[in-house]
Formats: sequence, C-alpha cells, structure tokens
Amino acid sequence: MRNSARALRFQLQERLAATATSPPIRSGRVGALVSGMGHPACKLRPGGAAWEARRVAANERCAQVSPSAMTATSAPTVRRHHWIVRLTHWATVIVLAGMIASGLQIYEAYARFGNRGGPYFVSPFDSAQFPHWSRLGGWLAGALNWHFALAWPLIAFGLLYLGYLVRSGEWRALLFRPRDVPGAIEMTKYYLHLRREHPPQGKHNPLQKLAYTGVIGLGALAVLTGFAVYKPTQLAWLTALFGGFQAARYWHFWIVWVFVGFTIMHVVLVFAVDPASLRAMLTGGYRGRFPSHD
Ligand code: HEM
Repeated sequence: MRNSARALRFQLQERLAATATSPPIRSGRVGALVSGMGHPACKLRPGGAAWEARRVAANERCAQVSPSAMTATSAPTVRRHHWIVRLTHWATVIVLAGMIASGLQIYEAYARFGNRGGPYFVSPFDSAQFPHWSRLGGWLAGALNWHFALAWPLIAFGLLYLGYLVRSGEWRALLFRPRDVPGAIEMTKYYLHLRREHPPQGKHNPLQKLAYTGVIGLGALAVLTGFAVYKPTQLAWLTALFGGFQAARYWHFWIVWVFVGFTIMHVVLVFAVDPASLRAMLTGGYRGRFPSHD
C-alpha cells in the first residue's frame, strides 16, 4: 500500500519533470524507441513485488532502446539510482578514504611483510613511508582507532547496499555472468576504437558489470583479510586460509591498490563516457543517453 502510494507520487513527479523537459513525441521507429525510454514504467521506484513485476515489463521495453537512437540532451529524466544506492555509494567513498589513510599510517609501524629475520613477501613498498597528507591518525594507536572505528560503518554500508540489491532484484543489472563475456569483448573493442557503434546495453554495460562485481568481491576480501589480521588467534582458521598472518597482511595491503586503481578508472570513465551518470548518482535523476534498466 505504502509502496504503491510512493510509486504513484513518484510517477506524478516524474511526469511533471518529463513534460517540462521532453521534446515533442516523434513518430516512426526512432520516435517509438526514444519515447520507450521515457515510458512511465521505466521510472518506477523500487518497492515490492508489484514494482518488480512492472519493472520487468518495463525493462523489456527499455532494453529495446539502442544508445545510438537516443539523444543525450533531449532525453527526459528517469530514475536511475535508489536513495539507498546513492547514500551507501557516497558514504563508502568517504569511509573508504579514511580506511585507506589510516591503513597507510598503520603500515608505517612495520613497513614490510614477513616476521623479523624471516623470509619476506616481496613488495615495492618495503620500508616505504607514505606522504604525510595521505595518512590519518598521527601514530600507530591513533591510526588503529580510526581504522577500527571506520571499519564497522563500512561493513554496515556494504551490507545495506547488498541487501538492497538482493531485495530490489537490481543485482541482475549489476552481476557479471558468463553470458556477459561476448558483450564485454564488444565493449572492449569499442573502447579500443576497433568498432564504431556503441554496443547496445542495459543499465550497465558488461565491462561496468565486471568492474562492479569485482569491486564488491574485493570489498568482501578486504573485510575477510582485515578480520584475519585483527583476530588471528580467535579466527585462526581464517588467518590460515589466507596463508598465515603476514600473508593476510600482504593481501589486505594489495587490495588497497586495486581499490585505488578501480576508483581512478571508474572516475575517468564516468567523465569520459557518461558524465550525466554523476548527477544520477547524486540526485537519482538521469538524463543521459543510456537505458536505466536492463
Ligand atoms: C570520487 C569517487 C567516485 C565517483 C565520482 C563515483 C561515481 C560513480 C557514478 C557516477 C556511478 C554511476 C554509474 C552509472 O550509473 O552507470 C557510480 C556507480 C558505482 N560506483 Fe562509484 N564513484 C566513486 C567512487 C567509488 C568507489 C570508491 C567505489 C567502491 C569502492 C565505487 C563503487 C561503485 C559501484 C559499485 C557502482 C554501481 C552502483 C549501482 O548501480 O548499484 N565508486 N559511481
């Protein structure tokens, strides 16, 4: 009941926005495709089984929209990201920055991987000291306090996001599966200028799905290796799973650089390929050239 009232209110808002901004409906195939993207059902807000059923129907219509048939400037506003996705996304960006900065400060207390006098895991960061601006906490104990205090919100935001993906069914638009492999190859060709047309896509292209699925898996690994280092006695089985205490530290440390690499690529691609998606991640409303549903 609450969900349908919310969906109705939302549709009304969207219709007002669409009337204010959308171009006159065109006729013919392209017109049908463009207006298909603005179909009210494409803009429903997640909320329960009824929404899910209508979303699936809407997705079928939206999936027929090819990016080349859309115009970036004249597209009506559609809902792209639920507030839970937006909240957890930006909260993760802030908390993760704090986790990395305090982690770099902790690393300085023992800047190598291996027991004293024993064999070491090779790392280009042996005995490295990271710049002052990149560290948080001032000294080992201060940094540990920050790290432990931020870890719980990070886990909570991650679980909230995953819970939302599962409950709303949006995981389907995000999870990279074997059937996405051919699409990922086509996207790679497009990025390498080996094909001219942007391959048709749903909410996310297959390479985005690969990156997002990977980063979620990486988040899980970061947490698990973190616990392996945090409680090596109580969780000895977990620490052993990662090859022992020093190895768990080593993997925990490398995961950071993959996060940093992901974030740099992610931000570059947002600005290079679909800057309109930034507004969508801030306000939820999207007026770009890609579909917002699978
Ligand atoms: C300043 C840094 C960042 C910016 C500007 C940024 C921006 C964005 C934007 C605009 C989108 C929407 C893409 C779309 O709609 O197709 C997005 C999605 C996403 N970002 Fe970021 N991001 C940043 C950092 C991060 C970090 C650090 C992570 C994780 C470690 C992350 C994980 C994700 C994920 C998983 C999605 C997909 C969300 C979904 O559709 O459910 N982002 N980001």
